[in-house]
Amino acid sequence: MPKLIVVTREGEEREINGEAGLSVMEVIRDAGIDELLALCGGCCSCATCHVHVDPAFAERLPAMSPDEDDLLDSSDECNATSRLSCQLPFTDALDGLKVTIAGED
Ligand code: FES
Repeated sequence: MPKLIVVTREGEEREINGEAGLSVMEVIRDAGIDELLALCGGCCSCATCHVHVDPAFAERLPAMSPDEDDLLDSSDECNATSRLSCQLPFTDALDGLKVTIAGED
């Protein structure tokens, strides 16, 4: 199982064995980290699954859709490492991916 490293808002680092095929949001949620609200359930319409992705993995991520881009634009916490975790399929190629849960808007 590929590993996902999640840094919470409090700075706690958790290493999770994630199931490939789920989204990064689902892996985080299934690990019981409830500060990632993911209110829309992965429909790319809420932006409460916002994370900052380690730049070392940026090239392995799928391109951003216009909807994801628009939603992130509306967040005060948005920067160059921002992604919506529900839009990132977790795969073996992302083993060791590190994401930090973005601050609340
Ligand atoms: S869970 Fe709502 S946009 Fe990702």
